[in-house]
Amino acid sequence: MAVYDFDSEIDRRKSSSLKWDYYKQRDVIPLWVADMDFKASGQVISALKNRVDHGVFGYTLPPDELMDTLVTMLKTRYAWDVAPSWIVPLPGVVSGLNVSCRAVGKPGDSVMVPVPVYPPFFDAPALAGKEMVRVEMVQRKNRLTFDWDSLENKIDSNTCLFLLCSPHNPGGTVFRESELRNLAAMAKTHRLVICSDEIHCGLVLEGRHIPTAVACPDIRDQVITLMAPSKTYNIPGLGFSFAIISDNPLREAFIRAKKGVVPEVNALGYTAALAAYRDSDTWLSEVLDYLRINRDLTYKRLSQCRGLSLIRPESTYLIWIDARGTRLDDPALFFEKAGVGLSDGKYFGAPGFLRLNFGCSRLLLTRALDRMERALSHL
Ligand SMILES: Cc1ncc(COP(=O)(O)O)c(C=O)c1O
Repeated sequence: MAVYDFDSEIDRRKSSSLKWDYYKQRDVIPLWVADMDFKASGQVISALKNRVDHGVFGYTLPPDELMDTLVTMLKTRYAWDVAPSWIVPLPGVVSGLNVSCRAVGKPGDSVMVPVPVYPPFFDAPALAGKEMVRVEMVQRKNRLTFDWDSLENKIDSNTCLFLLCSPHNPGGTVFRESELRNLAAMAKTHRLVICSDEIHCGLVLEGRHIPTAVACPDIRDQVITLMAPSKTYNIPGLGFSFAIISDNPLREAFIRAKKGVVPEVNALGYTAALAAYRDSDTWLSEVLDYLRINRDLTYKRLSQCRGLSLIRPESTYLIWIDARGTRLDDPALFFEKAGVGLSDGKYFGAPGFLRLNFGCSRLLLTRALDRMERALSHL
């Protein structure tokens, strides 16, 4: 018997939700920004209530118990032996991406960014005074992956950093060990640091997530791993994430680059993270079951629509849609007018594509899919 009810709709309109307020006063179902419409686990909610009842919210250190829990979680889930000193708490993974771009290389060096990808990847190199080298990913066997020849061709002596999104947003790819090893070989040859954004690693629907530093032990000292409970346990508004950096000089450079710019994590972020990782396995297993059904429903229905072609995601609650076959000038606007708010692929480096967030009640998702099908049938 399931403990959690993900079918009940919770009104998020009065909570200053970014996702819902964007379409305030409009009948548009918001399936865009990456958070889910579900309540956090009972354990997270009661840990937060207890912390709030304490009533004093001063500057807060990372609790020892949280650091121990992270070390245990990394060992249990990924057979990764991490020393607590390798872990650097952060208020957000985007901060981690930007700090990585500042910490590695020198001004004018270049940072490789596989495309499509989560939009802040595009801003981070320039904000750090670095060039961005875009490299197109390819679709093989209904997965987005790397084109090894074009990666190799685009690396030159100025390339210092590779920004990897694993699992991949927006494609949902769970990279295989062999793919990560190919990347590692490239990083070794060209002495690149890999910043591996693994924020979606807890949301694997199929297969197994392997941290880049685990798949490639011989280059583990060239890897900055970024993780967080935010996507997995649906607590992104609470701002806790962390970097794992085994190499002392690289970690020191990272800490120096964030100094005075990136704030410390807040007390509630730590509290929620501990309750999420330590006590919320049941919630996670049930939410993954729910998401798998939502993914299958979305994939099945939209794949049958003329003009749309989809990748079936192996992870995340996001599905990547190629809408170029509709010949619409602006597919995102078309669906918005039809009452469904999707993310426009142009922000991910892929105009003509869309990203749909199926992390919501099945009823709401069904209503949105009905609207999309109806709109397309009138084309
Ligand atoms: C790949 C990826 N990295 C980072 C983030 C955001 O991280 P944060 O909110 O911790 O800055 C997201 C959110 O969608 C994401 O998909």
